[in-house]
Amino acid sequence: MRTLVDRLATLHTLDADSYRALLECDSDTESYLKERARNIATEHFGHEIYVRGLIEISNYCRNNCLYCGLRRDNRNIARYRLSDNEIIDCCAKGYAMGLRTFVLQSGEDSTLTDSRITNLISRIADIAPEAAITLSLGERSKDSYTALFNAGASRYLLRHEAADRQLYSLLHPEDMSWSNRIDCAKSLIAIGYQTGMGMMVGVPQQTTDHLIEDLLLLQQMRPQMVGIGPFIPQADTPLGYHTAGPIDLTLRILAIVRLMLPNALIPATTALASLDADARNQAILSGANVVMPNLSPACVREKYAIYDNKAATASESAEGIASLQQQLNTIGYHLNFSRGDFQQYDRL
Ligand code: 5AD
Ligand code: SF4
Repeated sequence: MRTLVDRLATLHTLDADSYRALLECDSDTESYLKERARNIATEHFGHEIYVRGLIEISNYCRNNCLYCGLRRDNRNIARYRLSDNEIIDCCAKGYAMGLRTFVLQSGEDSTLTDSRITNLISRIADIAPEAAITLSLGERSKDSYTALFNAGASRYLLRHEAADRQLYSLLHPEDMSWSNRIDCAKSLIAIGYQTGMGMMVGVPQQTTDHLIEDLLLLQQMRPQMVGIGPFIPQADTPLGYHTAGPIDLTLRILAIVRLMLPNALIPATTALASLDADARNQAILSGANVVMPNLSPACVREKYAIYDNKAATASESAEGIASLQQQLNTIGYHLNFSRGDFQQYDRL
């Protein structure tokens, strides 16, 4: 079994059966997998964890994903939109704290037109000239992605959610299409964005076969960023009565993805930290190298309730950056405030 880990660490690809063996491996192999993933991350990034300021700009969403609390049919959520000035204010505060990457994240809110986002991008560039701007605004047209890229956004997060078409259609209503999702990811990569893909672990109906398909898709598309977190039920959604995804399997998948994509930017996701305060550190010890504290104004933070009990204070907030630093120090890592762009070359 250890030879499979070695092969992935050397060749960065495996076949479906080998991924199955790793997803189902014994605890000895799991420890070795995480150790190799951690070491490969250290060889590329040292003990540095990139920090990104996350701003949740609107929780309106035209979509109805079955797992997400922002879905349009959820009437139990207080909706909000930050104004342009509020968004710029968040960036300015983050910039003053030393942050050099801002992630504008939102539900698919139709008021977020190209011209509004373009204008926001240039205002952010004015107050934070050397900062990277990452967008996470869902599915848009290729022309829109291109316009936003030309305006200065250099990164885009769009999880593929499920590589398997059938699972995708179980998790989404009929008006959302798997092929459009994949086409969006392909467009983002073709335009030149540093592109983030990813999926949840432990969504209802998900099998090992589905996760193998996710791994093979990531292996084929080789995105620069990969966000992976456990599914967490949200009570006001159709999947709200299911149990949360397993942390141990999520960490194992993080380690596999690190070995597959040695220089990728892989966050220790808020979903992991929401299930277990120690899971963020465990993610880092499994190969993650990014954290994304929340810069949104405190008054709206709990309204971005994609799942229940989302971590929104302490180390997930701007005020908590010092405590985040302390937590990382306990495992010998520290925050790196630079832009932390994806490096194409392989330093190994
Ligand atoms: N549990 C965990 N993650 C979720 N997301 C949406 N709903 C949930 C949930 N209930 C993730 C999706 C989406 C990202 C913004 O949050 O993968 O892409
Ligand atoms: Fe909207 Fe994204 Fe939630 Fe789907 S996952 S309902 S697109 S915010």
